[in-house]
Amino acid sequence: MARNQIGTGVTVTGLEIDNKNDTNQIVIRNLTKNFGELCAVNQMNLSVGNEIFGILGPNGSGKTTTVLMLTTLLDPTSGTAEICGYDIHKDPRKVRESISYVPQDLAVDVRLTGRENVRMFAELYGVKNSREKTDEVLKILELSDRADEFAKVYSGGMRRRLELAQALVHNPKVLFLDEPTVGLDVAARQKIWEHIQTLRNAGMSIFVTTHYMDEADRYCDRVAIMDKGVIKAVDTPDTLKGMISHDVVTITISGTFSGISVPGVRFVKNEDDELIFFAERGDSALPLIKDALAEQGLRVIAMSVRRPSLDDVFLHLVENSEDTSPLNFRAFRSIIRRN
Ligand SMILES: Nc1ncnc2c1ncn2[C@@H]1O[C@H](COP(=O)(O)OP(=O)(O)O)[C@@H](O)[C@H]1O
Ligand SMILES: [Mg+2]
Repeated sequence: MARNQIGTGVTVTGLEIDNKNDTNQIVIRNLTKNFGELCAVNQMNLSVGNEIFGILGPNGSGKTTTVLMLTTLLDPTSGTAEICGYDIHKDPRKVRESISYVPQDLAVDVRLTGRENVRMFAELYGVKNSREKTDEVLKILELSDRADEFAKVYSGGMRRRLELAQALVHNPKVLFLDEPTVGLDVAARQKIWEHIQTLRNAGMSIFVTTHYMDEADRYCDRVAIMDKGVIKAVDTPDTLKGMISHDVVTITISGTFSGISVPGVRFVKNEDDELIFFAERGDSALPLIKDALAEQGLRVIAMSVRRPSLDDVFLHLVENSEDTSPLNFRAFRSIIRRN
């Protein structure tokens, strides 16, 4: 039995995944999906190993379409992928044996108990010692105490953990999670990510989609930033943030902003009376920006300087691409705020 020590100090027993030494469990080559005129996923190329790999992008950017193709549930228009060495076209059955997929929508049967939900999956997958395996995954997901209650009384976070338990029951090497923390409160989100980290530490390759920049930053080993079907950048969150050498200056004003000219400062956007600038030196730029705004008769209500976040990286990458749509970005921000 494997024992895996994770960063939070939790010791987990019972998980044993034999792909520790394999490098890339997911290799994606020119994967493309068109829906009529719309290109939902455009020539995607990625390799993913034993890591938490995040696909980060706003709603409609093509994350779910990508996952559906990789899990053999949707045929690509062109291109292909190998999962654990099996081609999604040639060996879909082998691919499905090697993976688990937790879709975005809740999929537990609320009329069954937690234990029955997991046991059903174990039977469906033909797991040999299904009773023991069910107990084991319930324990890993910290559901043993409540396992005999109906899933309908579970909280959102518990249902998500139950889905993870279902997904783990046949020892998959690769786990696909589509927006695993949507709709959960902060504590439940953190717990889900801790479990995902445990699975990564146990040797699993985790392919997870999210539109939460902060969660991707904190929990993903590497992140692919996706917009309108195109991967804009792939790297560790720190390296991506390092792409932006400048500071981010946020200024709340009252009045109508019509542009300023300050050396070393670039205006990025104006949203709800909040102006965002990128500045080479945030501290020294603040008073200059304030003066320039005062010259226009604008009153500054609040000012702040910070280092770039993944949010800013997204803005930087999307802003620098050909098709800039401020409306899309506004919608994206409101999604982040709402959640
Ligand atoms: N079955 C479908 N038929 C037509 N268009 C679709 C279909 N599924 C997704 N799309 C479109 O493809 C784009 C990507 O969708 P999706 O992969 O669900 O994005 P995300 O998961 O990032 O929110 C969207 O514009 C969406 O409307
Ligand atoms: Mg989606």
